[in-house]
Amino acid sequence: MADGTWYDADIDRVIVSEQQIREKTEDLAKQVAADYRAVESVLLVGVLKGAVMFMADFARALGRYGPKTEMEFMAVSSYGQGTSSSGVVRILKDLDRDITGRHVVIVEDIVDSGLTLSWLRKYLQSRQPASVEVVALFRKPDAIKVQVPVRYVGFDIPNEFVVGYGLDFAERYRELPYVGVLKPEVYARS
Ligand code: PRP
Repeated sequence: MADGTWYDADIDRVIVSEQQIREKTEDLAKQVAADYRAVESVLLVGVLKGAVMFMADFARALGRYGPKTEMEFMAVSSYGQGTSSSGVVRILKDLDRDITGRHVVIVEDIVDSGLTLSWLRKYLQSRQPASVEVVALFRKPDAIKVQVPVRYVGFDIPNEFVVGYGLDFAERYRELPYVGVLKPEVYARS
């Protein structure tokens, strides 16, 4: 794992490797493509900022298998700069257009407490789409506070604070190509 990059020095251990993410993204795209083979197009709704890496890779993978996709982004917030959910969801950026009659797939990096997704599903459902499903690359089953249906899940991971592949600590580490746990001293010095 330690290949000399600056961030490897801050990572205690890797939870999901770059290759595992790549393979799983391909698998998820194949599943979604099979389930939506009869529809004209799918509207992917990426949840900023965490989902940006997964959105980009997932959309490209889906492009290899069909159907056609369009991309929208929303930004909502349920975390401050700390490491646990507050349960407060705010819209920081709304959809740019009408989703009436569209087949929507929410693209999330992680389902932690489920509060963000639960709120988002209801919000999008209220806008009369043809359907709303969720693809989440990571899920923490032990952190769930509210049950929310997630049709496509990449990895169930332990209930630890993780960074990388879009996930941040105080806005850092999003660019890591894998997901890992920070060394305790990183928190101590921040
Ligand atoms: C994270 C993550 C999810 C949400 C999951 O976003 O990207 O959207 O929290 O947590 P929950 O299941 O407990 O609601 P965050 O609010 O940290 O914003 P960010 O993506 O901009 O980092």
